[in-house]
Amino acid sequence: MKPVRVPDLRSMKERGEKIAALTAYDVAMARLLDRAGIDMILVGDSLGMVVLGFETTLPVTLDMMIHHTKAVSRGAKRALIVADMPFLTFQLSIEEAMRNAGRLIQEGGAAAVKIEGGRQIVDTAKRLVDIGVPVMGHLGLTPQSVHQLGGFRPQGRDSEAAEKLVKDAELLESAGAFAIVLESIPAGLAGRVTASLKIPTIGIGAGTQCDGQVLVINDVLGLSDGPIPPFAKQYAQVAETILSTARAYIEDVRAGGPHR
Ligand code: KIV
Repeated sequence: MKPVRVPDLRSMKERGEKIAALTAYDVAMARLLDRAGIDMILVGDSLGMVVLGFETTLPVTLDMMIHHTKAVSRGAKRALIVADMPFLTFQLSIEEAMRNAGRLIQEGGAAAVKIEGGRQIVDTAKRLVDIGVPVMGHLGLTPQSVHQLGGFRPQGRDSEAAEKLVKDAELLESAGAFAIVLESIPAGLAGRVTASLKIPTIGIGAGTQCDGQVLVINDVLGLSDGPIPPFAKQYAQVAETILSTARAYIEDVRAGGPHR
């Protein structure tokens, strides 16, 4: 079982092999996804919404991310572990970004970090790469900018926004990013970015032409409480299984059990 390393993703793109990524936030899920053969586990700051109950990812702190990244890295032996840098941990100064990324690697056990944004974070990305921290970019719908974007809305829909995104992707590649997440953009635009880059693109709501795909594990499992994004394919109804299991247990206990 050879572990997936950062350069392997580029080789996969070159060979035309698709990259399968999912989020995870704890050891049990990391173990299972790793056993299933997932290539990359993203400890996303979606943690704030799907695990911690916040409305957005903005309240997520570095300490929360480190706590959950530690758990995931204890569980995964093969998958590449990428940890999100949460809001305000990489925007204030390059020095702070280096210190905070370093903590996700050193304390959390991640192999790489993900940062949201384009041209405005390119110098930061470059510096992180210079000190040996692999960086994955994130363009399109960047949830940490939810208020500026006016909600969790698809991006890159007019030609100006599309050109800006293409340029941002090129800048991130030049800065040394090893991959870029493209979230909620038109499939054609994602295809164009994918074709123009040597590094892989990982799509979420960005069509099928990306080099890989990532989804939030709670959406995939049908574990989410509220509505799930329209692009998130639900492969199971785990919430239903938990409800019926808990109800069966409650009934058992009330009847004087459970019996073994
Ligand atoms: O936080 C997250 O889980 C993410 C993915 C949805 C790409 O950024």
